[in-house]
Amino acid sequence: MASVLVASNRGPVSYALGGDGSLDARRGGGGLVSGLSAVSSQDSVWVCAALGEGDREAVRRGVGEPGVRMLDIDPDVYADAYNGIANSVLWFLHHHLYDIPREPVYDAEFRRRWESYRAYNRAFAEALAGAADEGAAVLVQDYHLALVPGQLRELRPDLRIAHFTHTPWASPAYLRMLPDDIREELLWGMLGADEVGFHTWAWASAFMSGAHIDSATGVAEPSFPAGDRRRTVNHRRWAGPGANRTTEVKVYPLGVDAEELRALAYRPAVDERLAELRAEAGDRKTIVRVDRTELSKNILRGLLAYRELLTTRPEWRGRVVHLASAYPSRQDLEVYRSYTASVAALAEEINAEFGTEDWTPVLVSVKDDFTRSLAAYRLADVALVNPVRDGMNLVAKEIPVVSEQGCALVLSREAGAYEELREDALTVNPFDVSETAEALHTALTMPHPERTDRTKRLATASTALPPQRWFLNQLESLRGPA
Ligand code: F6P
Repeated sequence: MASVLVASNRGPVSYALGGDGSLDARRGGGGLVSGLSAVSSQDSVWVCAALGEGDREAVRRGVGEPGVRMLDIDPDVYADAYNGIANSVLWFLHHHLYDIPREPVYDAEFRRRWESYRAYNRAFAEALAGAADEGAAVLVQDYHLALVPGQLRELRPDLRIAHFTHTPWASPAYLRMLPDDIREELLWGMLGADEVGFHTWAWASAFMSGAHIDSATGVAEPSFPAGDRRRTVNHRRWAGPGANRTTEVKVYPLGVDAEELRALAYRPAVDERLAELRAEAGDRKTIVRVDRTELSKNILRGLLAYRELLTTRPEWRGRVVHLASAYPSRQDLEVYRSYTASVAALAEEINAEFGTEDWTPVLVSVKDDFTRSLAAYRLADVALVNPVRDGMNLVAKEIPVVSEQGCALVLSREAGAYEELREDALTVNPFDVSETAEALHTALTMPHPERTDRTKRLATASTALPPQRWFLNQLESLRGPA
C-alpha cells in the first residue's frame, strides 16, 4: 500500500523480449521519473500500462521494479484506447488538428472504442484503489487517463486526487465537437479530481471555459473570482447532500533540471556525435530542431520556411545547415506514418533543389536518437520550435541550457513554453511560413553578444521549475499544509 501514487500510460521502465526469452529492462527519463524520485519508493506506487510483448511477459513472470505496477490490459482494448481514442480523437481535439479531410466521425465504431477507453481507464482506477492507503495522494497523468479521477472518486472517496494534462486543452468550440454525453463523461472524469493541473494559463483557461455542464448527469460551473488567480469548477457530484465540491484548476509550468541535462549532454558518447556533426556541418551556421514525428509539431511548415529562406535569401545557400531530428511516433496509425514519410520526402526535395556536391542543406535523422539530439543542441546557432499547438515543449527549454555558443530561439506563439520564454525568443505564428523564414534570417544574423545574453535569460526561465519541484509542488498542494 502507498501514500503517493502516480498513474500514466507509459511507465518508468519497459522490457524488451530477446529471441532467447530474456527480458531486458530499459529505464526511461522524463519529468515524472525525476519528480517521483523525490518520494521514497517504499511509500509510492507508479501504475502504468504494459505496452508491448516484453512488458506483458514481465507481468506474467512477475518481473518488475520496486514501486512500479504494470497493468496487463487486453491488447485489443489497449489498441482501441491508445490508438483509437487517445491518439486519434483526444490528441486531435486538444491540438486542434482536425481539418476537412480529417474531420471527426463519431459513429458506432467510435462508441465501441470509447467503451475500450473507459475500460482501460477503469483498470487504472481499480489498481489505484487497491494500492492506496487511506487518504493517499494520487497524481494521474494526461489525456490517456482523463476518466480515472471520476472513476477512482467513486471507488475511494477518501483519496486526494490530482490530474495533470501535459497537452493543451481544447477550446470550448473544439470540445463541443464531441458528442454531448461523451464530452460530459470526459469532464466528469476530470472533475473527480481535487485539482486539475496544466502547464500554462492558456490551457487552464481553455479547460475552465469549456467546463460547463448542465444536464441530467449534474451541474458544473466554473468560477472566475475577480482579482485572484484561484480558479475552481464548482459542482455537487461526489459531495454529501446539500454540499458543494470544488475542483481547483492550477498551473505548474514544467522546467528542466540543468545539472542533470548538462551531465547527459557532456558525456563522451555525445562528444563523439558532436564531432561527427561538426564534420558534416563544417563552419556553416546550424538551425536545429528535435521533435517526435507528430502532426502538432509542424515539421513540414518548418521545412517550408527553411526552403523559403534559401529561396528569398540566396546568400544563405551553402552557409547554413538544417539539422532535424524526427523521432518516429505512433507508427501504428496511418496518419502518423504518412506524416513521417512526408517529412523525409520534403527534406529530400529541398536537398535535391538546393544541394551541391559539398553541401547538403537538410541533415535529417528519422529515428529515436537522443545522443545525436544532444549533440545538435550543443552545436545549435538557431533552434526552431514551431508547433501549431503544444502543451509545453521541453526542447525549447533544453536547448538554451546546453547550447555551447548561445542559440537564438525561433518559437511558436502556440507552444506552452511561449508563456515563459517569449521575451527572449523570436516568436512566430506557426502557420505563417514567410514570417518563420524571416525569423530564421533574423536569428541567423543576431549579433553574438545579444544571442548569448538572450540564451542566458532563456536558460534561467527554463530552469525555474525543475521536475522534482514541479512534482513536489503538486503533491504539497494536494495534501494541504503539513
Ligand atoms: O505531450 C503529451 C505526452 O503525453 C507527453 O507527456 C509524451 O511525451 C507524449 O505525449 C506521449 O507520447 P506517446 O504516445 O509516445 O506515449
